[in-house]
Amino acid sequence: MSSRAWEALKQHHAEVKDVHLRELFAKDEGRGTRFAVEACGLYVDFSKQRITSRTLELLFSLAAERALGQRIEAMFKGERINITEDRAVLHVALRAPKTATISVDGVNVVPQVHAVLGRMGEFAERVRSGRWLGYTGKRIKNVVNIGIGGSDLGPVMAYEALRAYTQRDLTFRFVSNVDGTDLAEATRDLDAAETLFIVASKTFTTQETMMNAASARAWSLASLKDDASVAKHFVAVSTNEAEVKKFGIDPANMFGFWDWVGGRYSMESAIGLSTMLAVGPSGFAQLLQGFHTMDEHFRSTPFEKNLPVLMGLLGVWNSDFFGAHTLAVLPYDQYLKRFPAYLQQLTMESNGKRVTLGGADVKAGTGAVYWGEPGTNGQHSFYQLIHQGTRLVPCDFVGFMKSHNPLGNHHDVLMANLFAQGEALAFGKTAEQVRAEGVAEKLVPHRTFPGNRPSTTILAERLDPATLGTLVALYEHATYTQSVIWDINAFDQWGVELGKVLAKRIGSELEATDPKLEHDSSTNALVKRYRSRRG
Ligand code: F6P
Repeated sequence: MSSRAWEALKQHHAEVKDVHLRELFAKDEGRGTRFAVEACGLYVDFSKQRITSRTLELLFSLAAERALGQRIEAMFKGERINITEDRAVLHVALRAPKTATISVDGVNVVPQVHAVLGRMGEFAERVRSGRWLGYTGKRIKNVVNIGIGGSDLGPVMAYEALRAYTQRDLTFRFVSNVDGTDLAEATRDLDAAETLFIVASKTFTTQETMMNAASARAWSLASLKDDASVAKHFVAVSTNEAEVKKFGIDPANMFGFWDWVGGRYSMESAIGLSTMLAVGPSGFAQLLQGFHTMDEHFRSTPFEKNLPVLMGLLGVWNSDFFGAHTLAVLPYDQYLKRFPAYLQQLTMESNGKRVTLGGADVKAGTGAVYWGEPGTNGQHSFYQLIHQGTRLVPCDFVGFMKSHNPLGNHHDVLMANLFAQGEALAFGKTAEQVRAEGVAEKLVPHRTFPGNRPSTTILAERLDPATLGTLVALYEHATYTQSVIWDINAFDQWGVELGKVLAKRIGSELEATDPKLEHDSSTNALVKRYRSRRG
């Protein structure tokens, strides 16, 4: 990638790349708070990133050069920024207040959003209160969400994250994988008469979801023995009414959304029906409020204090200038155990692109590989590589002031570990320090920590619905920020198509006894082997 701002950053990187965080902190007593921003209930400390004030200035010039401000406005105004699918990108409309006006093709979509939220709320209250009864008159006790990708990861992540706010006499399960084990294990101990399935699919054509939904219907009918029971035990969430009808679900039991909501940006649309059933309409409203707070912040805050812009730009700095191809998301909260998996789809399906909006090869490294585990588990697994390996792995630490389960001093120990990891990564331990501890000379290299490994620490009061919304929106907008810098489309996902097409072709070949196989020699041999041994 070449431009004035990019070249200036390259030159600046050459000047600062060997400067150690130890030096930066020693030179500037106030660094720890000077590079921290507090907004939307989050305290975000960027001071352990390998930056100076000059780095930020240059990154803001790059953002200006890429017209980031205008591109943010284009999204909020409903312009068709998803150019390869010719669609507006308006997840921000899903969390806009009733009084807002956001138009697509001249139509204000906010009233439609609130109409669906209203229907979801009524339905959720009926199920939660026991007024919605199953076909045999039993109360619904189990909710099984069937979906995949954005129709699964957001719902399951939010359910786990907000467990402390859920109605505990309802059981929630999530089925995504086409592997029959997923559905079998999710339903094996459930009573069909007490089980409600939510079939969640934007397109209602996704192979895995349709197959799981059909098998779930067969499982349910095997007990309830009447097609009429489907209306009491299956609801759909989709943009595709025709396919929902074809499947046999009454459109009265369908909750819709729109093509301007991307799958991985849909957890607060009707796709969040399971979340609303779990935390209730008021908990869901708080979640939306959290999202909206971050939306407003992203739209109106100068870049210097704009959390998603800062986070996005620092990601570009680490990946394109320091060559860090990955980012570890390390939530120090067990309830966020699915957050890294959720962020994987959000960031990697969005920014895993190799051509610009204009179709040319991108001349920079794009989306980083996101991954992670909740602290402290990761510390006893992969942190070794982050501390002493040869690769640079920037980290995002996420922690909360208050625990939902204050058990002795567990929370203090948890948070002490979070703070310690950031400190150890940044400052390390020099050979001199190791020697001063009396370590034998031959062990000194092994026990030295180079430090200078960048991290961001995000702190919030408590993991509640609003905070979850704020956190998710932070990463959504940081992802968009990066796509603008790289000039790529964060909102399509053509890369998932080829595998789907090939799987269909191979699927029919597995069932046949001896059709001619015309793949490469490896695929032919694998298919033949499976064909001759399948159970
Ligand atoms: O994996 C591709 C994808 O289209 C994702 O973008 C999407 O979240 C997922 O499949 C599920 O799609 P749907 O909600 O249409 O079933």
